[in-house]
Amino acid sequence: MRLLVTGGCGFIGSNFILRMLSLHDDWTIVNLDILTYAGNEENLAAVSGDPRYTFIRGDICDAAVVDALMTDCDAVVHFAAESHVDRSILAPAAFVRANVLGTQVLLDAAVRYNVRFHHISTDEVFGALGKEGTFSEQTPYAPRSPYAASKAAADHLVRAYIHTYGLKATISNCSNNYGPYQFPEKLIPLAVTNLIDGKKIPVYGKGENIRDWVHVDDHNDAVALVLTRGRIGETYCIGGDTELRNIDVARAICTAFDKGDESFTFVTDRKGHDFRYAIDFSKIQKELGWTPAHDFAAGLAETISWYRSHEKWWRKLQGRVIADVTEKE
Ligand SMILES: NC(=O)c1ccc[n+]([C@@H]2O[C@H](COP(=O)([O-])OP(=O)(O)OC[C@H]3O[C@@H](n4cnc5c(N)ncnc54)[C@H](O)[C@@H]3O)[C@@H](O)[C@H]2O)c1
Repeated sequence: MRLLVTGGCGFIGSNFILRMLSLHDDWTIVNLDILTYAGNEENLAAVSGDPRYTFIRGDICDAAVVDALMTDCDAVVHFAAESHVDRSILAPAAFVRANVLGTQVLLDAAVRYNVRFHHISTDEVFGALGKEGTFSEQTPYAPRSPYAASKAAADHLVRAYIHTYGLKATISNCSNNYGPYQFPEKLIPLAVTNLIDGKKIPVYGKGENIRDWVHVDDHNDAVALVLTRGRIGETYCIGGDTELRNIDVARAICTAFDKGDESFTFVTDRKGHDFRYAIDFSKIQKELGWTPAHDFAAGLAETISWYRSHEKWWRKLQGRVIADVTEKE
């Protein structure tokens, strides 16, 4: 299969490319990425000499670039996005441009060349949960941050192109990913790198907000399954079956460093902070046989040791981290 991956220099996209090239000898991948603050070509160093891999630095909003690449591929996996909620609160315009306009440009080209399209989205499009309940494919959209609203708009465009133009597309909505190569301003890498540097972990509010965590390899395996065996026109929710309060994630990381509660500090809560996300992933489980393989405690330990042994990688990125951030997305 000849794949066009967008945003392949970011956290999830680079893990996807590395994993898919190691699993599928007959796949070729072209990675289109503009290299924002979050994009890092070094993530793909292991495949840079692989004839099956090509990197193109370019913008998904550039119709000429997208058109030229679309003529030569069988399928698109669309990861590219502005992805950090805190940045979307500070400056929403970049989110509308990349996430909405960029998706529309890709969709137009996919329709023109009749290319299979898989769109990567987030559980945040569904809004926030109280103490009970889960998000599923039937949950109405209710985005509450500029980031979530831009992703919801992109999802609606994908659905509209399926309905209007018969585009062969699927969507997946996933919870919080963790693993290697995550930009060090999201919760887990920020916490780990802060502790290595002898700094405290900033935790929003009282740390009561709940997120579901899924290992990035589990997410990417689910994406590959949807791409190859998912039903056209369908949405699939992907989750890790690991609901945790942010304070519990911070504590687990402190424990791995033999530190206690003195190593985190509560900071003013994020504006409009969603209380809880949780995913019912029974549809992908039943239809495609996917289930998250990673246990969170073991996956977190591996992730912490990855950051410990890749200090050069994250040190170079520290200058790009925005101030006062505590969480992923
Ligand atoms: N990280 C999570 O926990 C999570 C959870 C659910 C869904 N998602 C979604 O998964 C996708 C990937 O997330 P991530 O965490 O890897 O994000 P990331 O911020 O680490 O990477 C995004 C990548 O997209 C690239 N990009 C941004 N704008 C672009 C443009 N105009 N043209 C080309 N490339 C561009 C960036 O350079 C970067 O390499 C996003 O669509 C995000 O909404 C992420």
